[in-house]
Amino acid sequence: QQPVRIAPSILSADFARLGEEVCTLEAAGADWIHVDVMDGHFVPNLTIGPAVVKALRPHTTLPFDVHLMISPVDGFLDAFADAGATTLTVHPEAGPHLHRSIQRIKALGKRAGVSLNPATPAKMLDYVIDEVDLVLVMSVNPGFGGQKFIASQLKKIAAIRRMIDATGRTIDLQVDGGIDAVTAPQAIAAGADVLVAGTATFAGGNYAANIAGLRGA
Ligand code: DX5
Ligand code: ZN
Repeated sequence: QQPVRIAPSILSADFARLGEEVCTLEAAGADWIHVDVMDGHFVPNLTIGPAVVKALRPHTTLPFDVHLMISPVDGFLDAFADAGATTLTVHPEAGPHLHRSIQRIKALGKRAGVSLNPATPAKMLDYVIDEVDLVLVMSVNPGFGGQKFIASQLKKIAAIRRMIDATGRTIDLQVDGGIDAVTAPQAIAAGADVLVAGTATFAGGNYAANIAGLRGA
């Protein structure tokens, strides 16, 4: 388990001022910028595409952690890589060939992540864990910010922590959804080392205090 990194989700940012928002997040101590990409099909919401990621790229030096909730996903991997993504994370249900998606992401020179929905078992990772740089455990059903943390996912985080440790490789274990001062320490205790936080980062407007609060939780 690596030191905890905080990845604010810009889903909760002011979309009319996204450039300023990512710049402010960097100054506030964020480690990564988490970009939630939704297609109105794989998940019941629509957000942003590669053009926005590209437009944001000059506004911060932080890694862009791009969470792709789009299906089929493969046709968009090149565009998000070109737009300046650092990590591209895909859901196994978002394409017919997860292993192929991972290979494509790596061929593009990007870090490859796999994200598991709340009902998706850890064993989905069995034959790809040696290929991935990041595993994302969804602690809400993807689509919206501000949802309640699903506690059953702690057991899955712990199981994946054991799988990761057994590989002997460095693989980020990220948790996304309903992270706050109460759930952050639970997720970390279970084995997570990257916390995505939308609502908890932006609440009240003091991003630096909120990020520090999560890190210290
Ligand atoms: C949900 C997204 C999350 C979301 C988290 O589909 O993947 O990244 O923005 O928001 P909070 O932290 O508000 O639960
Ligand atoms: Zn996300």
